[in-house]
Amino acid sequence: MKKVNLAVVGATGMVGRTFLKVLEERDFPIDNFYVMASARSAGQKLTFRGKEYVVEELTEHSFDKPIDIALFSAGGSTSAKFAPIAAEHGVVVVDNSAQWRMDPEVPLVVPEVNPEDIRWNKGIIANPNCSTIQAMVALKPLDDLLGIKRVVYSTYQAVSGAGVAGWKDLEDGLKGMPPKKFPHPIANNCLPHIDIFLENGYTKEEMKMIWETRKILHHDQLKVTATTVRVPVFSSHSESINIEFLRPFEIEEIYDALEKAPGLVVVDDPAHDKYPLAVDAAGKDEVFVGRIRRDESVDNGINIWVVADNIRKGAATNAVQIAELLVKNME
Ligand code: A2P
Repeated sequence: MKKVNLAVVGATGMVGRTFLKVLEERDFPIDNFYVMASARSAGQKLTFRGKEYVVEELTEHSFDKPIDIALFSAGGSTSAKFAPIAAEHGVVVVDNSAQWRMDPEVPLVVPEVNPEDIRWNKGIIANPNCSTIQAMVALKPLDDLLGIKRVVYSTYQAVSGAGVAGWKDLEDGLKGMPPKKFPHPIANNCLPHIDIFLENGYTKEEMKMIWETRKILHHDQLKVTATTVRVPVFSSHSESINIEFLRPFEIEEIYDALEKAPGLVVVDDPAHDKYPLAVDAAGKDEVFVGRIRRDESVDNGINIWVVADNIRKGAATNAVQIAELLVKNME
């Protein structure tokens, strides 16, 4: 495989550090490697493949050197400013922020679902929202099989999705301390509030799931609704997904399609209390699906339970998989 020059931007953050771990585990073909963050962390050392790398401050000149691919996870405003600079220098940016996801010039990609969209990138490829990524891996094979008519998402999202500060709020809250990141205590609580509230009464997280589902599945008019909830779990998002199809089906067809789907593992043995769990998904790269059952209140519907590690498949692993496809296309 061709070796590339790779930069990680936001390397000191929760997703950034996981980029390093996933790149190591997947033996990503790297020639020169660069780690970048804000001035606050410049000079700090990060270990990668047994070697120490000094964190560079991200500046307008960071991409003057030859870099093929940059994995960005440094927030929306950093991506807004620096991703175009990188792209102008011939770098392909895989961006984990929400900044570019709905831009019609920017592909939004889950490699198991719409890898072909990578080909029309103009220097920036967006990594979808963590909750959207895991849902897509389960919905795509069902859409191919039966045609999806409507989707209802209800999520149970881990605090790690809110970065280091979210994680600390749960740790502190379990010791009786007040929250700093969330507007209410997260310990022993569920917050139906992720990201900001919009004028239509939905949160931005809910609208991201709605918009991004349509873009990734290439269904502009798909009926989708969502309620997203932060729960006192450190790692892995869980989702209840209700799906209505255009065509009738036998439930065995659903099992069959999900069992064959790439990146998806069916865990569904209620007789032995087996179903996907956040604690089991943590640290894994696959998406887990279970509790597969007919929705008896509609003609052609099902309910499923989908769980994945939000920092790995929901962020770092998905971005690294996109980078792997880019390298393959360079050969
Ligand atoms: P730093 O550690 O120097 O602040 P998280 O979401 O887990 O908090 O991580 C955010 C990541 O984005 C960190 O690596 C952080 O670096 C980086 N970051 C934040 N703001 C900037 C910026 N203006 N320029 C470069 N990196 C930034």
